[in-house]
Amino acid sequence: MDNIFEALRESHEIQRKLCRQLVRIKPDDSRALEIFRDLRIELAAHAAAEERFLYAQILLDDMGLKSSRHALAEHHEIDECVEELAKARGQHEVWPELAKKLSHEVHHHLREEERKFFQVSGKILSEKQKKVLANKYRKDLQRMRTVVAP
Ligand SMILES: [Fe+2]
Ligand SMILES: [Fe+2]
Repeated sequence: MDNIFEALRESHEIQRKLCRQLVRIKPDDSRALEIFRDLRIELAAHAAAEERFLYAQILLDDMGLKSSRHALAEHHEIDECVEELAKARGQHEVWPELAKKLSHEVHHHLREEERKFFQVSGKILSEKQKKVLANKYRKDLQRMRTVVAP
């Protein structure tokens, strides 16, 4: 049966793959900006849908307060890394270091969600909620991928 955590992990895998590609590609390769654009869209769309259909839900429970705050703060840090990299477009000397920094932040965040925040959330949400939230999250993710696209 589908649940919110399975649904969230699908985008996590897309993010991990795009991060790996971003770190490996030479900054003067024409595909570097395409990979960055795809990653930026996926990060923004996923964070929005995840904030709405996971963290806003568990924020209502005392047990979920700390995890949801922590996760939202990391989303904000990732946004800042994305902005730094966006500003460094065309600057081939600083780009690899900033790409590595973004990839590191993203990997750290996804690991923490999968190992900690999802476990906490699993105790708060009912089986029914996990299924309903998966559907709502998937719909919003699809929509947000078009909303956040430049
Ligand atoms: Fe997240
Ligand atoms: Fe996530």
